[in-house]
Amino acid sequence: MDALLSLLFSSEEEELYMLDRMAYLMFLMAACTFITLLFENVPYGRYATSKYGFPVNARFAWFVQELPALLLPLCLLLWTSSSKTSLLPNQLLIAMYFLHYVQRACIYPFLIRGGKPTPFASFALAFVFCCYNGFMQIRYLSHYAEYPAYWVTHPCFLIGSVLWFVGWFINVQSDHILRNLRKPGETGYKVPKGGMFEYVSGANFLGEITEWAGFALAGHSVHSAAFAIFTAVVLASRAVAHHKWYLAKFEDYPKSRKALIPFLF
Ligand SMILES: NC(=O)c1ccc[n+]([C@@H]2O[C@H](COP(=O)([O-])OP(=O)(O)OC[C@H]3O[C@@H](n4cnc5c(N)ncnc54)[C@H](OP(=O)(O)O)[C@@H]3O)[C@@H](O)[C@H]2O)c1
Repeated sequence: MDALLSLLFSSEEEELYMLDRMAYLMFLMAACTFITLLFENVPYGRYATSKYGFPVNARFAWFVQELPALLLPLCLLLWTSSSKTSLLPNQLLIAMYFLHYVQRACIYPFLIRGGKPTPFASFALAFVFCCYNGFMQIRYLSHYAEYPAYWVTHPCFLIGSVLWFVGWFINVQSDHILRNLRKPGETGYKVPKGGMFEYVSGANFLGEITEWAGFALAGHSVHSAAFAIFTAVVLASRAVAHHKWYLAKFEDYPKSRKALIPFLF
């Protein structure tokens, strides 16, 4: 794989330059997505429409679209020189990334209950995003990211790691709550209860946004920041849309519940 990378990039300086440009492009994509989502909901799940292509089975879509976020980084770790993987901060950040994607790609899809099929365009975009982001995060962390020896005791790393873990826990717990609202074979919607759903409609999204914000604080790179911002843009929009949808659909929906940020928003 090193040979393939050296075909693509003539030097390490050029590859790092490209990784930085990929992150800046992701900021731009986040800005464009933000504007688009002022007019349209992210088209999958309850907002799926045939306008965005033929329906792809939800389990298949989640498994296949998320898998590159796991496999591509794994190939980078196994088959490239990965000169920074012996360093503790890099190891811990790579572990955070992998823990998330092992759950998301290999466990989450097979637990889905009655999920709506994903339109092909949403599925294809998610697949491309997972390839792009998987390469950008793990190539940077495994081969370029340099942290001082004391970084794992720095407040940014410590607070970021705690936020990452708390966010991950909230995300997994909230997805578990949602899944258990349906009995096997059911496809309808109910009012979520328990966990952070007592405070916000988008508890799973709050968890994931917190998780990648923590990762960005601990990782302190333009690459991790771009991913955190992109995630926040997509999932905040989804949380707001779900909140409005619940208020319109359920008369008895808890009035004190906010969309994304407890007590505030
Ligand atoms: N990092 C990123 O950029 C990113 C982007 C997208 C998603 N994600 C993550 O992927 C996970 C899934 O995202 P999502 O957008 O699909 O979440 P979602 O809209 O909350 O749906 C999650 C699952 O729960 C079901 N569900 C949702 N609300 C329900 C209710 N009130 N009653 C019964 N079932 C309900 C959905 O079924 P239906 O399919 O039938 O609606 C779906 O199977 C989340 O953890 C999210 O954070 C991450």
